[in-house]
This record gives sequence, structure tokens and C-alpha cells, in this order.
Amino acid sequence: MSTVNYGVIGTGYFGAGLARLINQLEGAKVVAVYDPEHAESVANELNCDIEKDIESLCSRPDVHAVIVASPNGYHKAPVVCAAAHGKHVFCEKPIALSYEDCNEMITITKENGLIFMAGHVMNFMNGVRTAKKLINEGRIGDILFCHSERNGWEEAQTEVSWKKKREISGGHLYHHIHELDFIQFLMGPAERVCMTGGNVAHQGERFGDEDDMLFISLEFANHRYATLQYGSAFRWSDHFVKIQGSKGAILIDMQDVKVVLKTPEGEERFLLHESKEVDEDRTRIYKGLEMDGAIMYGKPSAIPPLWLSGIMQKEMVYFHGIMQGSPVEDEFKPLLDGTAARAAIATADALTISLKEDRKVSVKEITDKRKVNV
Ligand SMILES: NC(=O)c1ccc[n+]([C@@H]2O[C@H](COP(=O)([O-])OP(=O)(O)OC[C@H]3O[C@@H](n4cnc5c(N)ncnc54)[C@H](O)[C@@H]3O)[C@@H](O)[C@H]2O)c1
Repeated sequence: MSTVNYGVIGTGYFGAGLARLINQLEGAKVVAVYDPEHAESVANELNCDIEKDIESLCSRPDVHAVIVASPNGYHKAPVVCAAAHGKHVFCEKPIALSYEDCNEMITITKENGLIFMAGHVMNFMNGVRTAKKLINEGRIGDILFCHSERNGWEEAQTEVSWKKKREISGGHLYHHIHELDFIQFLMGPAERVCMTGGNVAHQGERFGDEDDMLFISLEFANHRYATLQYGSAFRWSDHFVKIQGSKGAILIDMQDVKVVLKTPEGEERFLLHESKEVDEDRTRIYKGLEMDGAIMYGKPSAIPPLWLSGIMQKEMVYFHGIMQGSPVEDEFKPLLDGTAARAAIATADALTISLKEDRKVSVKEITDKRKVNV
């Protein structure tokens, strides 16, 4: 099989990590990178070219697919450019900060017959796949309710990252879209949503401008519900998703790492990651001084921890497999054409209106705004 050549746009903490991982795979080669500040060290390490801008990278005839890992607000330009040049795309989450931008990205990739995979890496956690399997086997019956928390405490920053600036990151809800996406994967699209919260404890020069407490409620068809919390103003940190069914329940705990199935017959435990060692390492990191709860932000100079690089690797193996011609499994179809990512952003946009206008919002207000042919 011939080698698949990749170009990587944005080679900071995550982009460099993805570039290293995909470059190690058989039949894969990173041939070029573009980053306004951090291209050089990665290019030297991977022995590839540095391009001067997005256009020059995407227009290279030897680039077959483009990995986009620039800051959240700067995903659309490289995705649209890559698609215009007929290149398949892997784009980090959140793929965009508005439903309209998602539509543009999906339309151009679809029109050109391209894969547009969203970096919703939670899908590649073993424990998440185990939970889906248990649900499909009927072990917890019908899902009635899900609850997720992704909370921690943020100290004053010496340097305020783009990840703390709402205009570029979208704030906690968009930046940490994983749990919202996962819950919608399990329960279908939310119909009516409500969000309250604000920036209660992180104002001033040494903080960004995002809300540090968000309280979300989602209503689904057939009287099913979900609630989520996000934020960096929680001294008692937590990171989990709890799935309540009519016959049992599942806890996916990403802080005190474990997956637990609870039924009237008793409890069964499963691993979240590859091994007990990796699960324990994640628990150690979450509970240690390296971070406080789920509020960890990588920097261009940092290397992802074991648990994260493990799922990033699975994600890259999957994307590379598709590039080499493997069929897309049904489960992952909406992940590979941008539509799952767009559904999460539609709900996030409705939640944003809810907070701003102090009312319950129908997600249709977002999705019916402009009918699209995708
Ligand atoms: N899936 C996950 O768990 C996960 C974890 C971390 C980051 N991410 C995502 O990866 C992306 C990058 O985050 P990061 O942690 O690497 O941030 P980072 O700040 O470490 O790196 C971002 C890089 O993008 C570069 N950049 C800035 N503007 C650019 C532009 N217009 N075009 C191209 N590059 C540009 C910066 O110079 C920097 O090197 C984000 O979308 C983030 O949400 C995902």
C-alpha cells in the first residue's frame, strides 16, 4: 500500500503530539507542518518541511490529508482550504464555535467527497466503548437520564492562554465539548435546553474572560433528560458521566478512574484505558498537583500524559486506517463527516442563547435558521 502523506496545521501541544503519533504509523509520513510560532522543533524532529502558510501547505500535491490542531476559533480557514484542495481532514475539537461555521465546513468537505473527522477523542477510550457495548446489550435498559461534571479550580495564571479567552476557545462548554457530544451520542439530539451560570470567581488581569460555572439541562424526546456542569470555580473537582437506565446504571469516572456497571444483581468494574497502570496514572495526575480536577491545559512545550497519548494514538490509527481505505464503521459515520460534531455545537449555541437571554431554548432555533442540503 502506498504511503499516506500528512500535513499538520498548528503544532503546539496537541498538533505536535498527533504529528508524532501518526508519523510513527506504518505507511504514514508527515511531510509538512505550518504553525506561526512553533513549527521548527517539530519539523526538525520529524524531518519534514515547514510551510509559510495554510494555503501553501494545503496546495502541496504530495499532501493527501491535513490534520488541523490550531486554536479552536481558527479551525475553519484551514479546513475549508484543505477541502478546496481536495484533501481529507482531521480537525480537532471543537470543530468550530458556531453552527454556521460547522455547516460551511461540512458542506465543502461533503461536496468534495472528503472525510472530515472530528477529534472527539473520548470515543476512543476503551471504557467508553465498553459502556456503549453494555448499553447495546440492554444491560441498563432504556437510558432515562445522564449527568456529567467536568469541574475543577483554576488559580491565577502567570500567562493567560487562548484557552481561557472566550472568543478563541468558546469557553468551557465549547472547549470541553466531549461530554455533551457523548451524551447526545447516547440519547440523540437534545430538543430544548437551558443554561445558567457566569464568571463568579475568576475576574481580573490574571484570568481570561470565560464563565467559570456553567449549569446545563437538556431535554430529549420521550421525557428523557440530562444535566451537565462545567467550570473552573469548583474547589471540589470532579470529572465523570453517569448514565441512568431503567434496569441499571453506568458510571464513567475520568478522575477516580474506573467504569462501573450497577444493576440489581451487583456491580461490575471495567478499565477506562488500556491497562490498570494507565488508569492509575490518570487518577494520580488528576488528584495530584499537576492539575486540579479536569482543568488541565497543555502548552506547546508539554507532552500529553500516558492516558491521553494512548487515546490520541488510537484516534490516529483509526484516521490513518480510513485514509488507507478501511471502511467506516456505522458507529463512527457521524464522527467522520462532521455531523456529530455539528450536533454538539448546535446544542452549545442554543445553550449560549439560553444563558444570554435567560430563557429555555429549542435547538431548532439554531438548526432551522438556515436549511442546508447536508
Ligand atoms: N482532544 C483533546 O483532548 C484535546 C486536548 C488538547 C487540545 N485539543 C485541541 O487541539 C487544538 C490545539 O490545542 P493545543 O492544546 O495544541 O494548543 P496550543 O496552544 O498548545 O497549540 C496551538 C498552536 O496553534 C498555533 N496557531 C495559532 N494560530 C494559528 C493559526 N491561525 N493557524 C495555525 N496555527 C496556529 C500556535 O502557534 C500553537 O503552536 C485545539 O483545538 C484544542 O481544543 C484537543
